[in-house]
Amino acid sequence: MTEHTVEFVGTGETIQVSDKRTILQGCIDAGIAQEFSCRVGMCLACSAEIIEGEVTQPAARALTEEEAESYALTCMARPQSDLVLDRGKYPPSIEDAATDATDAAADD
Ligand code: FES
Repeated sequence: MTEHTVEFVGTGETIQVSDKRTILQGCIDAGIAQEFSCRVGMCLACSAEIIEGEVTQPAARALTEEEAESYALTCMARPQSDLVLDRGKYPPSIEDAATDATDAAADD
């Protein structure tokens, strides 16, 4: 078991998370208000952009292979190195879908 430092951009929060635990578990233990919902890698509520470092997240089914290189689903992701994460950041495909839905609603 190896402990890694996980730093969150813009919040000043830093926690230690074992490579055997998820980042979300580390946040909950530390009292950090990381958003989550399904906890099974499907809803993207717990998404964070990976600024530095590597995670393993084979069960992050809501992310494409390409997205999983830049985004972590913290309910599934386990640190493989020290990390810098930007919480509440979502893959561009999700941001585009939200924008399209907003535009469609505005057209009605
Ligand atoms: S809480 Fe749903 S994907 Fe992580």
